[in-house]
Amino acid sequence: MTRAAVISGLGGWLPPRMVTNGDLPAELGTSDHWIRTRTGITRRHYAAPGSATSDLAVEAGARALASSGEPQVDAVVLATTTPDRICPATAPEVATRLGLTGAAAFDMNAACTGFLYGLACAAGLIATGVADRVLLIGAETYSSILDPRDRGTAPIFGDGAGAVVLRAGTPDEPGAVGHIDLGSDGDGAGLIAVGGGGSRQRLSGRPELEGERYLTMSGREVFKHAVTRMADSCRTVLKRAGRDVADIDRIVAHQANIRILHQLADELGVDRYRVVANIDRVGNTAAASVPLALLHGVADGALRPGQRTLLTAFGAGLTWGSTLLTWPDLALRD
Ligand code: COA
Repeated sequence: MTRAAVISGLGGWLPPRMVTNGDLPAELGTSDHWIRTRTGITRRHYAAPGSATSDLAVEAGARALASSGEPQVDAVVLATTTPDRICPATAPEVATRLGLTGAAAFDMNAACTGFLYGLACAAGLIATGVADRVLLIGAETYSSILDPRDRGTAPIFGDGAGAVVLRAGTPDEPGAVGHIDLGSDGDGAGLIAVGGGGSRQRLSGRPELEGERYLTMSGREVFKHAVTRMADSCRTVLKRAGRDVADIDRIVAHQANIRILHQLADELGVDRYRVVANIDRVGNTAAASVPLALLHGVADGALRPGQRTLLTAFGAGLTWGSTLLTWPDLALRD
């Protein structure tokens, strides 16, 4: 029988520093009312100065391992757009700090779709027998790339980390990752981007290029892509699985904007209450978004064992992805 990747542990972590809409600097020219009504966000968390994505990833990873009861894994996949440094990858250090030295460890950059790409990767490692157990972490420190003067991005993004442990199992088990759809469109590369710091636009220290180290986003255009790409991807996965939207109990989607979540539900013809949302308290945490939504959904009672659940995400690249699974019964650890 085919080896499936089965979710056996879940954990997450938010840095303690909470920033409410009212805490944002007045110079941004925004308001609590605008942010709440246009995005659904009321607060987000920022990592303390001096702390990095690996610090968040270790906290989330440790909780996912404890939740699964697995002391060891064979591979650590870290989905992130904000690694500690360009080289080396952050995952090996995270693995070692978790007591997993020797495990395969690498970073994956698919921006806000990173967790879905990571699930596909973990499923592949397990299906081919390369690994029996994989720790998949989505962790981000977007506060390090936000322009504090840009009201189009600064109120939207936050820091955080979420993680799952996957083990080898069978496709019919609760928690087994089912059909997966992934996609990309590089024509949209400029719609959400950090212009400088890579090999194309090298940071030169010239003051006029200072802004190049910040994230920029064409919000309105990205919004439309987010709804249509996630909806199409969800339909693709449902078709491959021989399912219909009527079979879906919950949708756990990338948390970019509450209006995107509502439009996604409407587009698919799913009742809005079936869409799990935690964007109000975390903002957009990119690769950490889906696992944190899973965690908060379970903690809130919105996501329960046995529910047929669609996971979907969209992000920079452009990238998108979706999968379908039956939510398993997991023990959460603080
Ligand atoms: N506070 C107050 N006004 C703001 C604002 C803010 N934080 N951000 C934008 N505005 C203003 C704009 O300047 C514009 O003003 P104008 O009409 O006078 O020019 C107006 O609000 C509308 O701007 P627009 O960009 O069209 O707003 P929007 O309703 O699209 O909301 C986002 C902006 C970023 C919240 C929204 O586009 C969004 O969520 N985009 C998708 C993000 C996403 O999916 N990311 C996924 C990948 S990470």
